[in-house]
Amino acid sequence: MAVPSGEGTAHVLARQMEDWYKDAIIYEVFVRSFRDGNGDGIGDFQGLTEKLDYIRELGATCIWLLPFYESPLNDDGYDIADYYKIHPDYGTMEDFETFLQAAKLRGLRVIADLVVNHTSSDHWWFKEAVANPDSKYHDYFVWSETGQEYSDARIIFCDTETSNWTLHPKVGKYYWHRFFSSQPDLNFDNPEVQEEMVRIIDFWLSKGLDGFRVDAVPYLFERENTICENLPETHQYLRKLRKYVDENHPEAMLLAEANQWPADVAEYFGTDDDPEFHMAFNFPLMPRMFMAIRQENRKPIEEIVRQLPDIPFHAQWAMFLRNHDELTLEMVTDEERDYMYDTYARDPRMRINIGIRRRLFPLMDKNRRAIELLHSLLLTLPGSPVLYYGDEIGMGDNIYLGDRSGVRTPMQWNGDRNAGFSSSDPSRLFLPAIIDPGYSFYGVNVEEASRSESSFLNWLKRVLTIRKQHPCFGRGTIRFLHPENTRVITYLREHEGDTYFIVNNLSRFSQYVEVDLHEFNGYTPIDIFGDVEFPRIGELPYLVTLGPHGFYWFRLRKEDGR
Ligand code: GLC
Ligand code: CA
Repeated sequence: MAVPSGEGTAHVLARQMEDWYKDAIIYEVFVRSFRDGNGDGIGDFQGLTEKLDYIRELGATCIWLLPFYESPLNDDGYDIADYYKIHPDYGTMEDFETFLQAAKLRGLRVIADLVVNHTSSDHWWFKEAVANPDSKYHDYFVWSETGQEYSDARIIFCDTETSNWTLHPKVGKYYWHRFFSSQPDLNFDNPEVQEEMVRIIDFWLSKGLDGFRVDAVPYLFERENTICENLPETHQYLRKLRKYVDENHPEAMLLAEANQWPADVAEYFGTDDDPEFHMAFNFPLMPRMFMAIRQENRKPIEEIVRQLPDIPFHAQWAMFLRNHDELTLEMVTDEERDYMYDTYARDPRMRINIGIRRRLFPLMDKNRRAIELLHSLLLTLPGSPVLYYGDEIGMGDNIYLGDRSGVRTPMQWNGDRNAGFSSSDPSRLFLPAIIDPGYSFYGVNVEEASRSESSFLNWLKRVLTIRKQHPCFGRGTIRFLHPENTRVITYLREHEGDTYFIVNNLSRFSQYVEVDLHEFNGYTPIDIFGDVEFPRIGELPYLVTLGPHGFYWFRLRKEDGR
């Protein structure tokens, strides 16, 4: 990597230690679904530890764990009953520590979900709040005599809940919840709640975690006559939290889950002087990649990127195609939503709340070229990519399972019993493995994919290796070029003197573009997949032809050979 003049190597290394997230490739794992180590039909830390080499060999550098804490699992662990305990299904604290050590040994970072906004109604704070309204824990939650307040706040789980208030029969008062009624919101106006979060953060970071994906951050505070999202009080608290983390755990990274419009998401980065999150998911861009490829037009991507404010130097987008939730369509226009439902979720069972509960391969109808193109966008637009377990082998989904379980089925390791996920009786599995023709684990599994040179898995491994060799993709600036052909999206990524020229064909037919590259007159584009030299750039527009859903990642080499 080029060392900028004036900076010593040690300084650069130190800087990279602290902003490691800018070069990260994050792999999202649900412990429950990944690998069952003790044969009881449920994934656990012992099993996950066995599979760390797989994750490393895939090319991931950081694991994001969905909640693994004590929980009644009404929302797969996003309903926490004890922040300091491992769910017994997943093993013991020792198993967790063994896993963490084994991950570190392999150079893998680990971040975990931190659910700040709410607890489970099984949390002893809530039980105490209910049993004893005079106790200090009563004020850990948000109560109302009438259940009429904050009526401008939307209902997120709109397929299940009819109100954000639920009357608690024992207390005779309503409690506030932005998600399921079994997930009472914490009262962040209470300084003691604020401090509880700091204690939890300390506990886990001291064990060696590298940071958190912080769940549902826009909803921490409530104020009358607002939509109770993105409030100044919420940002103020989060910045305090960040300051604490920076002072006490300088290498830790905080990643925001804020499903919001462009300007509102970007607020979660704070500023370089007063930072908030290191990373935030690029929720605005995600659905627009799917739109652009279906419409065969770059406009949805370019328009949304134009609306995204420049982010501070310390900040980084988390780029993703799919995750453990529905493909959310909350932050698109009504028209765009209709379009997305129409093209990607014809069957009403594919829809949930305001989104689409499908995995990547079924969504794209297994169109390998289109899926590769989506990954070209994912890996070359600014940010660090987040991959969802199972998508790398083209796993299918099961829309007949409840809630979002259909995209959380057991990881498919081989064609043996239970897809090699567990040695238990098949009926004991926490969720059935996928057996539908076309996606059955007999054919769709890691063993099979590893054997075939041309599998998507092996393709992705190669592409991730290449991406890692070019820090510009994680760190560089972006400049869109605007050739006449709108079926092609093309941009320059630039970083410390390196320039990359990316061309993506969104169309299912061959295309050509003429790109104005005269400022690089004399440079030679090198296709970095095969180290292939292309004709030198001149004064005239540069002509590129592309096959269906084709793409190029060119490095521009100067005349002097650099
Ligand atoms: C986040 C999680 C989702 C969960 C919700 C409530 O959106 O991604 O899975 O249900 O928060 O905690
Ligand atoms: Ca188990």
